[in-house]
Amino acid sequence: MADWVAGLRRRASLRARAGLSRNLRVRDATDAVIDLAGNDYLGLARHPAVVSATTEALRQYGLGATGSRLVRGTTTEHALLERDLADLLGWPAALVFSSGYLANLGAIRALVRADTTIVSDAHAHASLIDGCRLSRAETVVVPHASIAEFRSALAAAPGRAVVVTESIFSVDGDLAPLRELHAACVEHDAILLVDDAHALGVIGPRGAGGVAAAGLAGAANLVVTATLSKAAGASGGVVAGPEPLVKHLVDTGRTFIYDTALPPAVAAGARAGLALLRDADEARRELADRTRLAVAVLGDAGFEVSRPDGGVISVTAPGPEQAVAWAAACAAQGVAVGCFRPPSTPDNRSRLRLTVNTGVRRVDFAHALDVIVKEAP
Ligand SMILES: Cc1ncc(COP(=O)(O)O)c(C=O)c1O
Repeated sequence: MADWVAGLRRRASLRARAGLSRNLRVRDATDAVIDLAGNDYLGLARHPAVVSATTEALRQYGLGATGSRLVRGTTTEHALLERDLADLLGWPAALVFSSGYLANLGAIRALVRADTTIVSDAHAHASLIDGCRLSRAETVVVPHASIAEFRSALAAAPGRAVVVTESIFSVDGDLAPLRELHAACVEHDAILLVDDAHALGVIGPRGAGGVAAAGLAGAANLVVTATLSKAAGASGGVVAGPEPLVKHLVDTGRTFIYDTALPPAVAAGARAGLALLRDADEARRELADRTRLAVAVLGDAGFEVSRPDGGVISVTAPGPEQAVAWAAACAAQGVAVGCFRPPSTPDNRSRLRLTVNTGVRRVDFAHALDVIVKEAP
């Protein structure tokens, strides 16, 4: 066998020995597990209105977008989705990318100039980290949610700074101190980029996310990104902000320009998801209620549990192997939970990562919590 293939095999076995092997789990359409692992917070991915809007657009446009956004890939569905997103998020303009990952890469690159320093939260998602790396700007990583550390990094930045954070963090579910971060940015003439991926649909007025919840929609020195792949039940990413930012991305954003557009049917489904999400206050109350229940049940059982502000809950496992065994034991009992291990955790802790999906029956959710407690290593 060629050397490089043997080398890859060796590295895989080292990862396996360290408990860091990853495996794809195939699910079929009839899969009946209780889902505490996906990001379909409001259970919209299979909602009849989402399915029917998607099917109708599929019938009209066919499957693929046939080209990049600047060539043949911008359809009426994309334009309407951008209008709806700008309206919901409270910004003059919004631009849809084919994923949240690409939206983050594009947004960060657009905000960086030759003299820019990026100041990033230590718990920032991989797509934000990669955005910082690709931008080639000097990046200072500060301890998680530490306003004092953000402030001193801003004060030390020689040129203009860009602060990068999530609103609801994707691993522990806690909310960043957005108002304080924004005030610090305004003071230092820095720009705050907030990834609202896990907050869109989950918190804020009409589910408009963490930035809107903080009263910062449309504020100066602020840019928002989000994904449509979570509470909106679809796929795709968005950057929202002032018109010139969107114009800049259309003219220069490589992850926008050199990428085939989101399929029009997905854009149509995402719009239907957004329309449902606006009116889902009752589901949001239920989501918050279930999150509190999970924290109480798992905390009472003696586990170290995060203090979530959204629908993500993290439960510490003793180590990577135990986390894998715990998740597998839950799966064997019909409960899907996330299993996060380094390098996918910001603090080297392995954990189960649970997400609340209000599409799951409440009785099943309660049963799933019992299973998690019973199957603990
Ligand atoms: C915080 C955060 N930002 C961005 C993304 C990327 O979004 P997408 O899956 O649409 O690429 C994710 C997860 O997928 C995420 O958790």
